[in-house]
Parts: sequence; structure tokens; C-alpha cells
Amino acid sequence: MARYKLIGPITQLLPMTNLPLKGAIRDDQLTVIKNAGILIKGENIHAISTFSDLIKTAKELNAEVVELQSSFVCLPGFIDAHTHICFSGSRANDYAMRNAGKSYLEIAKSGGGIWDTVTQTRKADQLELSLCIAKRANHLLKNGITTVEVKSGYGLSIKEELKMLHAIREANHNVESDLIPTCLAAHMLPKDFDGDHTDYLEELMTTLLPILKIENLTNRVDAFVEQSAFSTKNIYPYIQKAVDMGFDITIHADQFTTGGSEIAVKMNAVSADHLEASTDAEIKMLAASDVIAVALPGASLGLGCNFTPARKILDAGGALAIASDWNPGSAPMGDLLLQACILGTFQKLSNAEILAAITYRAAAALRLSNCGTTTPETLADFSFFATDHYNEILYHQGKMTPSIVWKRGELVYRK
Ligand code: NIG
Ligand code: FE
Repeated sequence: MARYKLIGPITQLLPMTNLPLKGAIRDDQLTVIKNAGILIKGENIHAISTFSDLIKTAKELNAEVVELQSSFVCLPGFIDAHTHICFSGSRANDYAMRNAGKSYLEIAKSGGGIWDTVTQTRKADQLELSLCIAKRANHLLKNGITTVEVKSGYGLSIKEELKMLHAIREANHNVESDLIPTCLAAHMLPKDFDGDHTDYLEELMTTLLPILKIENLTNRVDAFVEQSAFSTKNIYPYIQKAVDMGFDITIHADQFTTGGSEIAVKMNAVSADHLEASTDAEIKMLAASDVIAVALPGASLGLGCNFTPARKILDAGGALAIASDWNPGSAPMGDLLLQACILGTFQKLSNAEILAAITYRAAAALRLSNCGTTTPETLADFSFFATDHYNEILYHQGKMTPSIVWKRGELVYRK
């Protein structure tokens, strides 16, 4: 029988419920429950209310009571909806070259870039890779991130992409957080592939995608639509095939040039990620669609380029999530809360919009309905920050990390 636990009293609980999926949010729209309690049943939330309301029910249910002795703000577990944490090696040289004036594309063309990480990742076996992922996922967990999307994309052959996806599955068994795998075999044309972009995508369609289905390795397909990767014309049949096979689609879109977001909208993708180069036309198109726009400020900070026009996306009525894009090339930092706060400062996002972007709107970017809010029947995933007001958390721009993290109804981290 599932055990009940009651946690509280919590100075402020922000359930992140009754908020819109799309468009701007004012801070006064946030629900804040003071002196709250969370009643857990097994791995799910059973009820939230004031602690005094719940204590009687908890006694009737013979719940274990976890009494908090100081001030805490409780937020739903954060969701990092876009990462590349399955990689081996470092690209510190790229960073130095970039800061010395070379562009991302120039570095890629001269032997650095994604292909360098492919070479290093291919040298690691599945176990080594799964340990790399687990280490990074544990780092994220200590920052309150309880669900992490993880892409392949540094294998770039059938065998190596499968190795990456198996490593993600293996890591998922060994970490507390939930890892959501995505196939990014269409990250760039592998330098050692005998054929052009169309031939490579054809091989992915006929060989890789069916194996993903048979082995149930992922239900998400991503593609990098960009001059250095795949054109909209090339990628279209691949995405169409993935849609026909029932995969959810996400696109690396409009990072340096536009085109990707149009594909995302046309193909009914779950999300379009990056969007640093999106103009008013793309913003309008995204806002009118059901595609979640995912800003990746970590890539802007890593590359020293524009932020995603997050304010305009929200004001146009779009749904905005924020993710870390943690990868060895463009976004080596891997600190979601810090990055979300910095984006908020430069793009003038309300605290409600920042929190929405890393909780329930990020869950929508992964089509997950069991996390991102503290709602009964969803997973008991949440973090406690040692403060008495939620504004303090964002004010510290990522330097205030959670003191306590719960995942699936268990205490998994305490500072
Ligand atoms: O999301 N833009 C393409 N892919 C990654 C970068 C990968 C890399 O540089 O290794 C990104 O920024
Ligand atoms: Fe990315």
C-alpha cells in the first residue's frame, strides 16, 4: 500500500497552477499558498492546502509527518527541456578561439565544433557515457531540476546514435531525475558519411527510425535546421516521415538564420528551440501556433550572441519555455536557473514568466502532463529554497540553490 507523507508548514508554496500556457503573465497572477502543506501518496501528490487543513487528514491516513522547522519556499521540480548532456570530452579550445574572434561556423569549418565532440564521444563506450550523463544529471538535481531532456546527436551513425540512446536509457535507471531521450541524429552531415545530406537522412529514415520504435528508445525526433546542418528543403521529408511514424518533433530553429521555425509550425512540432534569429514574422507565426518556443540563454552566453526575443514572443501570445542547452560547444555552463534569470533581466520577463518557463511550460515542451506543477495526481517533484519569499530566489540569479529536493515522493537531496 502506498505510504502517505505530509510536509509542512511551508512558508510559501507556488503550485504554478491556474496560469495560461501561452502569452504574458503578471506576477500578481501567481497563486501563493502561505503556511502550506503537501500531502504525498507514494510517488504522487495527493493534496495541497494549508498545513493546518491537511494535518487532520494526514492523521486519519496515518501519514508520516515531515515537519519543517524554518522558512522555505517550495516550487515544482524544474524541467530542463533541452540538453545535450550525453557527450564526452571538452571544447575549451573552441571557446578560446571564439573569444579570440573566430565565429561558430568558422570554428566548425576548421575542425572544431560539433564534429570534434562526435569524435570524442565515439571513443567512449556506453557505460562511460551513461556515467557522464548521470554526473551531469546529478549536478542538475542539486539545482532543483528533476526532469531532464537528453539528446543524442554526437554519434551520427546508426550504431553510434543507438549507443548514445542506450546510454541515456542506462543513465535513466541510475539517477533520481527522469531523463527524457530525444534522437538528434540529424545534427549535422557526418564528415565520414559517403553521400550527401539527402542520402544521410534517407538512411536515418529507413534504418534508424524503425529501430527507435522497435526498441522503444525514444518518441522524440529533433533536427538542426541551419546552413551548417540541414536546409529546410532537405529536412522536410525526414520530419514528415518521423511524423508519419508517430514521433513528437522538436526543431533546433532560427539559431543563426531563419527557416527552422517555419518547418516546426508546418509540421506541428512540440517545440522550436533557440530562435535567436527569429524576426517579427517568425514570432507571429509561432505565437499563432501550438508550438512551444524554447529560449536557450546558455547558448547566447556561450557564444556571445543575441538572446531569444522572449519578451516579444510572450507579448505576441506565444508559449515560452527556457532550457539550458547544456552542451560542450555553445553552452558549456549547464546552469538553468542562472540562465533563466539572466534572460529575464535582459528581456524584461516577470518572475512569473521565468518560473513558468522552467516548470509547466517546459513540461509542455516535452508533452509531459505529470510534472511542472504541484497538482494532485502529478509527480511529487519539488524543491525547497531556504527563504521566506519566492522573489529572493530569482533575485539571487541562480546563486540561491535549493536546500532540499524531492523526486517521486522521496527526499533525494539535502544541502
Ligand atoms: O543547441 N545548435 C546546434 N546544436 C547545439 C550545439 C552543439 C555543439 O556545438 O556541440 C546547440 O547549440
Ligand atoms: Fe541544442
